[in-house]
Amino acid sequence: TQTGLADRYGRVATDLRVSLTDRCNLRCTYCMPEEGLDWLGKPELLTDDEVIRLVSVAVTHLGVNEIRFTGGEPLLRRGLVGIVARTAELAPRPEISLTTNGIGLARQAQALKDAGLDRVNVSLDTIEPGTFQELTRRDRLKDVLAGLEAAHEAGLTPVKVNAVLMRGVNDEQAPELLEFCLDRGYELRFIEQMPLDAQHGWSRATMITADEILELLSGRFALTPVDASTRGSAPAESFVVDGGPQTVGIIASVTRPFCGDCDRVRLTADGQVRDCLFARAESDLRTALRSGADDDELADRWRSAMRNKLPGHGINDPSFLQPARPMSAIGG
Ligand code: GTP
Ligand code: 5AD
Ligand code: SF4
Repeated sequence: TQTGLADRYGRVATDLRVSLTDRCNLRCTYCMPEEGLDWLGKPELLTDDEVIRLVSVAVTHLGVNEIRFTGGEPLLRRGLVGIVARTAELAPRPEISLTTNGIGLARQAQALKDAGLDRVNVSLDTIEPGTFQELTRRDRLKDVLAGLEAAHEAGLTPVKVNAVLMRGVNDEQAPELLEFCLDRGYELRFIEQMPLDAQHGWSRATMITADEILELLSGRFALTPVDASTRGSAPAESFVVDGGPQTVGIIASVTRPFCGDCDRVRLTADGQVRDCLFARAESDLRTALRSGADDDELADRWRSAMRNKLPGHGINDPSFLQPARPMSAIGG
């Protein structure tokens, strides 16, 4: 039949990450400024129907088999449960996951599970209330912890926890965060900070590297690398903790890039296809959609968009420039 989302380097995107809003109820210092950003307006946002239309084209015409909803904070999207339910009705049914900061998840976890959500990844950088307030500029730690627990109870498993370490803020807490996750059966992944913050404040010197993360953990835990041949296109390198069975992951986008195995493509909340987090250009599917393009035409445009995908993110090149849109508007 028809071809999927292949790029010029032999990679095929089968994992679609859909941003449902660029807004957020936290203000993580590595992401956005205290005052927030210039949010997208209602007319620019895809409607629920439009989101489903494009997701459906991806699944039925382009071989996409995994859908992840992101933000901003996707739980702020009013229609989320309905969007998940309609995604779950597509054939072949894709795997459906959510990346969230966890606020409000306690209230919605069961409804999301019932709608067909398979699993969640929750961002949590610290379990110390003071540090949480410092990092996110909000006092919402309790809501996040309640959300995690509810997700686990609802069977949105494996529940993964994403943590970004910031030098002098939460880096020393890495072992206690791992202990916390091991105790509760959450799969923790530490993430190297990437140059995607709205303030353009990233610097190599403040980023905690994968090597440093391993060093921070080595005093408390015995870590054994998991056989690399099982990694596939996963961004995280996994390590068995203290003989297992539990693991911890490190997402080392900067010091150990995994772009060569990338199977991702992104759709922003305003209907732009991005072939990479760091893409310099986007393809406007919203305009095509709103001017009456049929499924085949949308699929063709999407395929063409992939031909611009570069072999890597280029963060380590001297000429690297941050993309115009920050992480919160792209969908992590
Ligand atoms: P799993 O399927 O559970 O492994 O999800 P995931 O790790 O791909 O998704 P999640 O939204 O939890 O993202 C975790 C971290 O990985 C975030 O910091 C993302 O920005 C980063 N990440 C996800 N996809 C990519 C990618 O294609 N490239 C890079 N460099 N980082 C990515
Ligand atoms: N670098 C790396 N990870 C980031 N996240 C947000 N901003 C950055 C950044 N600049 C993380 C969030 C969330 C995931 C989607 O991405 O903490 O867990
Ligand atoms: Fe919100 Fe995520 Fe950005 Fe934090 S990293 S401010 S939770 S979008």
